[in-house]
Amino acid sequence: MNKLFLFSIILFSVFLSFGQATPTDFLSADFHKERREAVREKMPPNTVAVFFANAERNRANDVDYIYHQDPDFYYLTGYKEPNAVLVIFSEVQENAEGILYDELLYVQERDPRAEQWNGKRLGIEGAKSQLGFEQAFNGADFSKSGIDFKAFDKVLFFDFQNDYRDKRGDADLFDLIKTFKQKTDYPSDYNATKQQLYSMIKSVTSENRANVVQTVKRYLNFDDDLKEDELLKNFVAADDDNLVNDIKKRVVLKLGANNLDSTMLSEIMSTLRETKTEEELTLLKKAVEISAVGQVEVMKAMHPNMSETEIQGVHEYVYKKYGAEYEGYPSIVGGGNNGCILHYIENNKTEVGDDLVLMDLGAEYHGYTADVTRTIPANGKFSPEQKQIYDIVYNAQEAGIQASVVGASFRAPGEAASKVVTEGLLALGIIQNASEARTYFPHGTSHYLGLDVHDKGTYGPFQANTVITVEPGIYIPEGSDCDKKWWGIAVRIEDDILITDNGPVNLSAMAPRTTEAIEAMMKQPSPLDDFKLPKLD
Ligand code: GLY
Ligand code: MN
Ligand code: MN
Repeated sequence: MNKLFLFSIILFSVFLSFGQATPTDFLSADFHKERREAVREKMPPNTVAVFFANAERNRANDVDYIYHQDPDFYYLTGYKEPNAVLVIFSEVQENAEGILYDELLYVQERDPRAEQWNGKRLGIEGAKSQLGFEQAFNGADFSKSGIDFKAFDKVLFFDFQNDYRDKRGDADLFDLIKTFKQKTDYPSDYNATKQQLYSMIKSVTSENRANVVQTVKRYLNFDDDLKEDELLKNFVAADDDNLVNDIKKRVVLKLGANNLDSTMLSEIMSTLRETKTEEELTLLKKAVEISAVGQVEVMKAMHPNMSETEIQGVHEYVYKKYGAEYEGYPSIVGGGNNGCILHYIENNKTEVGDDLVLMDLGAEYHGYTADVTRTIPANGKFSPEQKQIYDIVYNAQEAGIQASVVGASFRAPGEAASKVVTEGLLALGIIQNASEARTYFPHGTSHYLGLDVHDKGTYGPFQANTVITVEPGIYIPEGSDCDKKWWGIAVRIEDDILITDNGPVNLSAMAPRTTEAIEAMMKQPSPLDDFKLPKLD
């Protein structure tokens, strides 16, 4: 054995004993700290904001779904475990020992037995050393904390969905929320939507009254609790200014009954998360590129005997190969008529045959998710009808992408795309008048993209460093009121567009989009051509 070889073995053993190679390209502790500072800057004086980690969800018996952190919580902390709470104060606080702080993080306590079963926990030390928190505690300390929530003008929080369970132990999410409710005198009949509607009524003007009445009416229609509320009922029925002013006064009194605010955090987080920092864009671009490469590999591997779930598996293998942890949303692979179901996730057709296959697939890389759709002919060649529909969607998408510029309205890509789809369907005689277009293009064209596939944002004019999808589609289910030759054709093309001061940038451009480029790519050999598995009985 030569010396260099021996040295390598020793080095490798030392490496193994100190830990394993794991990814390091996560958002930095400085990013999360800076984002907490950005939240603090948007909080009114003398307020406190409270964020809870996502709930764990049971799949069956003693097996939970894979845990996924709440995106706001992740954005502000980098903490990936459940049963945690983050508290941010608008101003520096001082505790009994004279220690100054403006944020506190409560995390899962280290527990060797639990960690043997379910993996390592960061604990207080990790929260300090890896996430950069100066004040980190175990969850059980939350109930002992001296935070006097009632001393603040407002307690900002996201209202609870009541979809969390009380587990063993005294510091799970259930207990943390219970403590919060006790400390804030949270009314048992608290209704976040009612609070939101009251806030709207509080600031209603004669100019926007008609709109606010419409909004309140909409909510009254589907929430029984709201339907019984005297103030809301009176507001909707009010027909003179004196009456409205009287209702406004009563609403102000109701809102002043406690200091809970479940509206403002949503506005703050939407504003912050709409535009991405460079650090975020690095991860988001990676998620999108990985997903585009996945589409390319699927194009090469595709043939009519493949099943929908097998196609899904090819894509998921590629993104795992690049280190993406999850899919950003359940993968959609629909052959023929299945593509007409917008969020089709059964993916259980055993052979896609000669149909078009609609594949809406997005990898999640270190929290950031892509959302890319390609629609391709399983046999490698678009039929004349498939191509005619495809080209309308392609032109609609091009128009939508061109409209995705700084300063444009959020609705601009959708308006541009809808116009092209409508004209195309009229020209082919699939519809007879423009109002029918919605039958075949029933969804929106764009949404924000980031930590959530349908990410948070303000829906105001586009700003630089915002990422959106542009995803028009035409879906003609069997039995539609048009010539049979169109039945079963479903096309969606979806790309992830970075809006910049120099115009839109297509982050998923690596996956071919024109019919010619798709057909050419499908002729390329695939490593899976030689992948043979044994036949099972
Ligand atoms: N994949 C979900 C969507 O396109 O919005
Ligand atoms: Mn989408
Ligand atoms: Mn999609």
